[in-house]
Amino acid sequence: MKTFVLLGGYGGAGRALAPLLLSETNARLIIAGRNQEKAQRLADALAVGHPGRVTAAMADAAQPKSVEALLQGSAMLIDLTPNSARSAAMARAALEAEADYLDIHFQANAFNELAPLACDFEARGRLLITQAGSHPGLPAALVRAAAQQFDQYHSALVGMALRMRVENATTALELVDEIMTVRGALFADGAWREARNSDTRTLDLGPRFGLRMCYPMRMVELEPLPEALGLRETGVWVAGFNPIVDWLLIPFMLLCGKLSLRFARPLLARLFTWGVNAFTVGEPGMSICIEAVGLRLGQPATCRIVLDHPNPYVLTTIPVAGCLLQYLDGEIAKPGLHIMGQAVNPRRLLKDMARMGINVSVEGLAT
Ligand SMILES: NC(=O)c1ccc[n+]([C@@H]2O[C@H](COP(=O)([O-])OP(=O)(O)OC[C@H]3O[C@@H](n4cnc5c(N)ncnc54)[C@H](OP(=O)(O)O)[C@@H]3O)[C@@H](O)[C@H]2O)c1
Repeated sequence: MKTFVLLGGYGGAGRALAPLLLSETNARLIIAGRNQEKAQRLADALAVGHPGRVTAAMADAAQPKSVEALLQGSAMLIDLTPNSARSAAMARAALEAEADYLDIHFQANAFNELAPLACDFEARGRLLITQAGSHPGLPAALVRAAAQQFDQYHSALVGMALRMRVENATTALELVDEIMTVRGALFADGAWREARNSDTRTLDLGPRFGLRMCYPMRMVELEPLPEALGLRETGVWVAGFNPIVDWLLIPFMLLCGKLSLRFARPLLARLFTWGVNAFTVGEPGMSICIEAVGLRLGQPATCRIVLDHPNPYVLTTIPVAGCLLQYLDGEIAKPGLHIMGQAVNPRRLLKDMARMGINVSVEGLAT
């Protein structure tokens, strides 16, 4: 029986992932973070239905040795903290403890931090899985799932929308950092390029969000796919939050980013939290879809998949659990660096996600 250490295990993502891992696998869990009491409270609640499988511990990503000590004898460190800047230190701590590593960090730059560790992980026979979750996590998996439908693959557009309250300051700061520093990107006319203002798209994001204007964002996981799959056009487009955030705050953040006003980040994070929480209307939820076009048996063909859940944390952690099922039974086994969306068996992931409770609607995909 393997043990997973869930660092940040009693945060939003951790509270959604831990019960899934208990019901979907036979792994033991160590719920960890900087607050022993909070970790213990969650471990006690989870242990009710799963005696002997959940414990709690204190560990701080700022002190890698505390994480390394906790990992002795464990199979994997699952990093659910908002500390993407410490992902390399966490991965190294896992390696030192002879454990594998998985994170759900969404920052486009986090991959660059981990890439130099690929050879060390490979040499030590360990796996480093990064960018797990829904965004990142699902776009590349959806593009690859749809690919199996076409003899010639032309276009794969991924759209997504998220409606939830921003509850914590660190997450707000992470989002503001990403908006200020990372330009949207898309693949068109045979090359990746930075997005322009005119590159918005109106996409049908399914019943929860309907037709929405979406803005291109950069997703590292898609970058090798045009060449691998012969695509002419691909990218990820994300719907806005509400008119105040989209038309006032985000342009202001972009301007601050252009002027490198990094000192303004905490203020912008507070404004962003206020803008999202005060002006977003409607029930929380998240949808992610793909519209794919190509040729099948010489005829034009399309494929559309929509994934939806009322709880964005659940839509983020079910794919992580699906990825871990493939890790546990050896479908993802090659030592070295993996990006989740590129590593998973995408058809199996779709089936597992539907079974675990995501609303999966598929049109034009042969089973
Ligand atoms: N890939 C995706 O689809 C996706 C989607 C959503 C979010 N995310 C990522 O997931 C991260 C977590 O999101 P969340 O909403 O679950 O955040 P959250 O609710 O704030 O939870 C963060 C957890 O990390 C712990 N933590 C923070 N700093 C720590 C440190 N230095 N050492 C150890 N533990 C630490 C926190 O506990 P203490 O503060 O008590 O230590 C808490 O348990 C986000 O920041 C984002 O990067 C990814």
